[in-house]
Amino acid sequence: MCSVGKWVFCRENPSESRLPRRARAKPRPPPRLFARHSGGLHQAARMTLPARDAAIGLLHQHVQDEYQRLHAVMVATAMEGYAAQYGEDPALWYVTGLLHDLDFEQHPDTHPAPSLGWFKEWGYPDSMIHAVEAHAYGYHGYTTLPQTKLAAALVATDELCGIFYAYRKMNPVRYGEMKPSSIRKKFKDPTFAAKIDRSTIQLGCDKLGVTLEDHIANLVRFLAPLP
Ligand SMILES: [Fe+2]
Ligand SMILES: [Fe+2]
Repeated sequence: MCSVGKWVFCRENPSESRLPRRARAKPRPPPRLFARHSGGLHQAARMTLPARDAAIGLLHQHVQDEYQRLHAVMVATAMEGYAAQYGEDPALWYVTGLLHDLDFEQHPDTHPAPSLGWFKEWGYPDSMIHAVEAHAYGYHGYTTLPQTKLAAALVATDELCGIFYAYRKMNPVRYGEMKPSSIRKKFKDPTFAAKIDRSTIQLGCDKLGVTLEDHIANLVRFLAPLP
């Protein structure tokens, strides 16, 4: 996933077109700063969610690439915006966005299978695990469709953040200053950020119950606080 980051780097920095493959070390245990988590969809008693600072530490432990870190923050910020809009748990939605590609840099060929295993081992919420699995729909053989609002929002948001990023490379304004109509035009242009799968974004919108137009306008608003 997140093909746009690799695509952009590929065009601008050919030497960085392939992220270094690092040793397949067993992941270190997650940071110990845990917050008890309650609420959200499909919750069960055993579930814990890492506090935001701990999740950021985990991201930095597993992800060194600058674009991948930025992508994680973009998706997390957009997800938090949707949580506020729907009256859902902002911590759950933010952390799900932040960690959805946690294994991608180290395990690009099997993503997100390693993350799903780690999250189960670490006792993360089932709703988060389902969302991360569903964001891989149509990728590496994954066929799990989003069954919750959390999962649908992640599917709708993940690759659209890539289009926002690619658009900004071309027109360097803050996300909140972007015109939704301009983003929509680029979305409909198959030659722009061509590796981004528009059908998956549309699938997420359909499952979430938002039009593509509203979804783009929502992300302009949600991403506005980012520098
Ligand atoms: Fe991914
Ligand atoms: Fe992603």
